Amino acid sequence: MSKNTKYYTQKTLEAWDEAAPIHASINTSLKNDVANPAYNNLNPDFDAVVTGADVKNKSVVQICCNNGIDLLSVKKKGAGRCLGIDGSKPFIDQAVDLVNAAGHPDIEFYHTDIYDLPDTFNNTFDVALVTVGVLGWMPDLACFMEICGSLLKPGGQLLVEELHPILNMYEEGEPSYLDESYFRTEPFVESDGLDYFSYQKYDGKENYTFPHSLSDILMAAISNNLQLVHIKELPYNVGNFCADLEHADHNPSLGINLAWRKI
Ligand SMILES: C[S@@+](CC[C@H](N)C(=O)[O-])C[C@H]1O[C@@H](n2cnc3c(N)ncnc32)[C@H](O)[C@@H]1O
Repeated sequence: MSKNTKYYTQKTLEAWDEAAPIHASINTSLKNDVANPAYNNLNPDFDAVVTGADVKNKSVVQICCNNGIDLLSVKKKGAGRCLGIDGSKPFIDQAVDLVNAAGHPDIEFYHTDIYDLPDTFNNTFDVALVTVGVLGWMPDLACFMEICGSLLKPGGQLLVEELHPILNMYEEGEPSYLDESYFRTEPFVESDGLDYFSYQKYDGKENYTFPHSLSDILMAAISNNLQLVHIKELPYNVGNFCADLEHADHNPSLGINLAWRKI
């Protein structure tokens, strides 16, 4: 991992810490919602991917789990040991509160910058999850994929749901519009907050996101002994970025599901 990676991830995690109380003040019904035994926050296609991986009694890790509601949704499908990893302590605190409210206090959480994850968890999990809004925060995608793969037992599966990389070309607006090269390499620099629920702008910490193309993502996985077993591009909004494009006449794919098996 380079010095630059550390610089970027520190900045990113400060911005996430700052966003945590704002997200909590918007999503006020979550504690009640998660207490419902049928609670499931997964989008329908990703739900099918998770069901296809047959998570019953399997050990599951979620990398960059935020407030834990996706991991909790998988636990409610009968998963065994569940571990959520995130670099924002205030979000981990929210996750602990939510899993307690849901009656699953056995879900474990670990607070770290993912690039500093110790090797204690290596070869431990049957399933690793990465859900929407994670890959773009990763300055070094190959190293991130290596870490995801290292958590899996041989034969284990990495399941990813993400914004489609084509969205790196778009700027939000009414309507959202094409504004960038697909092949941009410099990070995007923002400081108007991370509220992708109510779209409030606030004077926030500077943060950096990284445009990874589809081939960047596939090659980062291939070079880490992960064999692609599923890919699906989605026509609907999965992460509230340029959500209006779902209804555009010339609509790009808005989301992507991928699954790999560790060789
Ligand atoms: C958009 S959220 C992911 C939400 C996810 N879809 C969910 O609800 O389960 C992105 C998360 O990645 C975490 N994150 C970003 N960079 C990270 C890093 N370098 N190490 C650990 N966590 C990181 C942030 O703290 C944040 O909680």
